[in-house]
Amino acid sequence: MNFRTIIEPFRIKSVESVKFTRREDREAALREAGFNVFRLRADDVLIDLLTDSGTGAMSAAQWSAVMQADESYAGSRSFYRFEAVVKDLTGFSHIIPTHQGRAAERILFHTILQPGQIVPNNNHFDTTRANIEVEQVEALDLVIPEGRVPHLIHPFKGNIDLAALERLLAERGDLVPLVMVTVTNNSGGGQPVSLENLRGVRTICDRHSKPFFLDACRFAENAWFIKLREPGQSGRTPKAIAREMFALADGCTMSAKKDGLANIGGFLAMNNAEWAEAARNLLILTEGFPTYGGLAGYDLEAVARGLEEVVEEDYLRYRIRSTEYLGEKLIAADVPIIRPPGGHAIYLDARALLPHVPPVQYPGISLANQLYVEAGIRGVEIGTVMFGLHPDGTETPGAMDLVRLAIPRRVYTQSHIDYVAEAVIAVAQSRQQLRGYRIVSAPKTLRHFTAIFEPLA
Ligand code: F0G
Repeated sequence: MNFRTIIEPFRIKSVESVKFTRREDREAALREAGFNVFRLRADDVLIDLLTDSGTGAMSAAQWSAVMQADESYAGSRSFYRFEAVVKDLTGFSHIIPTHQGRAAERILFHTILQPGQIVPNNNHFDTTRANIEVEQVEALDLVIPEGRVPHLIHPFKGNIDLAALERLLAERGDLVPLVMVTVTNNSGGGQPVSLENLRGVRTICDRHSKPFFLDACRFAENAWFIKLREPGQSGRTPKAIAREMFALADGCTMSAKKDGLANIGGFLAMNNAEWAEAARNLLILTEGFPTYGGLAGYDLEAVARGLEEVVEEDYLRYRIRSTEYLGEKLIAADVPIIRPPGGHAIYLDARALLPHVPPVQYPGISLANQLYVEAGIRGVEIGTVMFGLHPDGTETPGAMDLVRLAIPRRVYTQSHIDYVAEAVIAVAQSRQQLRGYRIVSAPKTLRHFTAIFEPLA
């Protein structure tokens, strides 16, 4: 017999209660938080879809590895285990642990970038962009045109535009110190990049003698999409596909808070020995000795085990299917979302849903706030607030105005997701009542985290 239901490939050994609140409590909490869901207390949130980063549930095997860890300052056994797992997966020669992804980014970019340069990517995530711009370097997004249109269906909407990359390197190649590709493409909707596209990047980089780095946060989800969608790949294991993805690159930055299935951790990995030495020296200055990089020995153990579990087929089948399940329910109810559903999140198209709220009145903030008030669900704006403010202080609409509902790994069950779908559909049906916002105060960079808003009358 062949059953169609894809079940969670685990049973639950330890549970954590969620707190139910009343609508008026949530209204007060949101007002108190300056109408910015980042400023809420997590205890006031019922279902927290703010991020899939560091919010996953660890396995019993990870927790027991935590107890086995070696906390030696230098040369810890846990580092060697971590290093062996990362090398086996990525094939890179130099493995530098960091406390999370952005530390790997900062160390890489501060080590190699010079003011006035350009770093191309399919789409830079916010911390990546900020860590590049702080070096007075341009972070250039070159995702394929299909990747910018939410309702357009394409199997690999995260692909980088190879012709645009070729043109950039031909015309201004002397300004490009490296090429990056983010798998899956978070800012573009959690969309995958094909092996064919990565091979194309490799060829172009070889032609112009440029190093190619992956932002590998969600490499396993990307590998699963390749298995599902790319011709000739269905018979391979996700790990074999992931290895080929890494083999096409010269290095990577990684946040182990995503596909490392850990609550903290990351790494910078590469083949270039000179860059690696410079990176390790900077690491010692700000993160820690190169065998722990700001992590406890037990974090290194959790990541090492997590990287083994994340490429298991049963896990990835469930993971990608459960995100798609939420997407299907919303599509069936005509809620505009980025299609097809991405790997780690569903992205509501707030601009399409709220045409009466102009981008500079932040439709994403309006929708995210209403979801919280109505249902206690926390999503995050990915749009004009996150990307609309430029280093010169000017503001323009972001490429899209989205609300991301990110699904923590192995945390919520199908009924939680059913509740989320019901709530989103109800809020979408009351769209006419939603109003825009203005910013009362905000910092100059990464303003979305701490900005204070006020609803417009
Ligand atoms: N790159 C991508 C594609 C990311 O999604 C993130 C984090 C980072 C780099 C930075 O990693 O958080 O460990 O420093 N994304 C989280 C998110 C925060 O919610 O999407 P980090």
